Amino acid sequence: RSAQLTIDPAFAIGPADRRIFGSFVEHMGRCVYGGIYEPGHPTADSRGLRRDVLDLTREMGVSVVRYPGGNFVSSYRWEDGVGPVGDRPRRLDLAWKTIETNAFGLDEFMTWATEAGVEPMMAVNLGTRGVQEACDLLEYANHPGGTQLSDLRRKHGAEEPYGVRLWCLGNELDGPWQVGHKTADEYGRLAAETARAMKMIDPSISLVACGSSNRRMPTFAAWEATVLEHTYEHVDYISAHTYYDPSDGDRASILASAVDMDNFITDVVATADHVAAKQRHTRKLKISFDEWNVWYESRLKADLDRRGWVEAPALIEDDFTAVDAVVVGDLLITLLRHADRVGVACQAQLANVIAPIRTRTGGPAWRQSIFHPFALTARYARGTVLRTEPVSPTYETKRYGDVPVLDTVAVHDEETGELAVFAVNRGSDDLPLELNLRGLPELRPREHLTLAAGADPAATNTEAEPERVTPRQLTTPTTDGGRCTVRLPACSWNLLRFA
Ligand code: AHR
Repeated sequence: RSAQLTIDPAFAIGPADRRIFGSFVEHMGRCVYGGIYEPGHPTADSRGLRRDVLDLTREMGVSVVRYPGGNFVSSYRWEDGVGPVGDRPRRLDLAWKTIETNAFGLDEFMTWATEAGVEPMMAVNLGTRGVQEACDLLEYANHPGGTQLSDLRRKHGAEEPYGVRLWCLGNELDGPWQVGHKTADEYGRLAAETARAMKMIDPSISLVACGSSNRRMPTFAAWEATVLEHTYEHVDYISAHTYYDPSDGDRASILASAVDMDNFITDVVATADHVAAKQRHTRKLKISFDEWNVWYESRLKADLDRRGWVEAPALIEDDFTAVDAVVVGDLLITLLRHADRVGVACQAQLANVIAPIRTRTGGPAWRQSIFHPFALTARYARGTVLRTEPVSPTYETKRYGDVPVLDTVAVHDEETGELAVFAVNRGSDDLPLELNLRGLPELRPREHLTLAAGADPAATNTEAEPERVTPRQLTTPTTDGGRCTVRLPACSWNLLRFA
């Protein structure tokens, strides 16, 4: 069994948008407190920002960070998190049954985002709040000055407006678990009115309407259609969220998770285009895939059940395996392959909570297995995403039926002339891959990096052993007239670089 892949720069999908390499910081568990922010930590700066986590965030190549939630935002009062820290109220966070101290808020996040070199993506509360509070937050953040709220920001030390460009109109309001859960019509109306008002304050912003919380929601697709009937002309993106749970041990299926993400994207695009056709819009809407990851979700209930109201408890601190890293690499391949319609994507979350970066409070920070495919993809997926039609053997899965063993995407950087091919072998045997670089015959292979899970699929990185799962270098293949054959190890994520 072997697979074939032809790469031709004539077949372009679109530019690899840096915003696809986004992440997410929610007030949940130890993502903020003990994650990115920990006053008194040996690496913390005078503002309490952990420098070790900042360094890893930059190393990962994160472009955009969504904040402050997630489910948290749906009962959040943003005003609680600004002004003198001693005056900020302690509140019940209903989403995660947690005490929120509000020691960290909007101004601290903006300082952190600047230090991390990331673009902020702010979510407004459309669960328990509405048009006015969203406008107030936007005025505080983006209006230059001379009004009560913009002057309040200046008084708090931020003379210049933050200029936040990306805004989410609420979070997962299709979900019955959401505080302030709504029907599609209720949410669609509220989102449209909020969008109209926000764009009156700052017409340069881009807005994201809430799509479905996942593709299995009973309202999936109908929700998107109704919401977009209300909002299409006012928004720039429709969101999508998905998590893949490996808890049942069905490795063949979890390795095929990207097949589901691929179908999810196709379904949302079809629904958005249907509304566009009906309402005679020529502008194509993009997807903001602003929550995605592997998540051992079945463990959440136990985390929430075992305690009362506490501050920043450890929540869903999943230890990711080598297999999970292969899945994450494949989900990134899928997002890139849809570069023409996916404009933003955020892996959820950044630190500790189902995260590529783990920390111990008072202790070190380390890279989980899933850190590596993210960092390498963000680093090398530059330029134009090329359309490829791999020829691949298939295998049988319980969840998704027959699926290809091989998944790939190629990105060509016209400026440097470099080509990066990302490839996943989902199978349990090594897979020979024959590459035909038609149209780029002058390119020579420079590097073959692999993160292979075949030998030790359950391996994880821990504080004691933080480098157990890392990519390793394989022998660089040789080309003959633009053709070469590489061996993709069993159950592996691969990066092949040509220059
Ligand atoms: O990322 C964890 C949670 O998952 C988010 O708060 C929510 O939006 C989603 O259900």
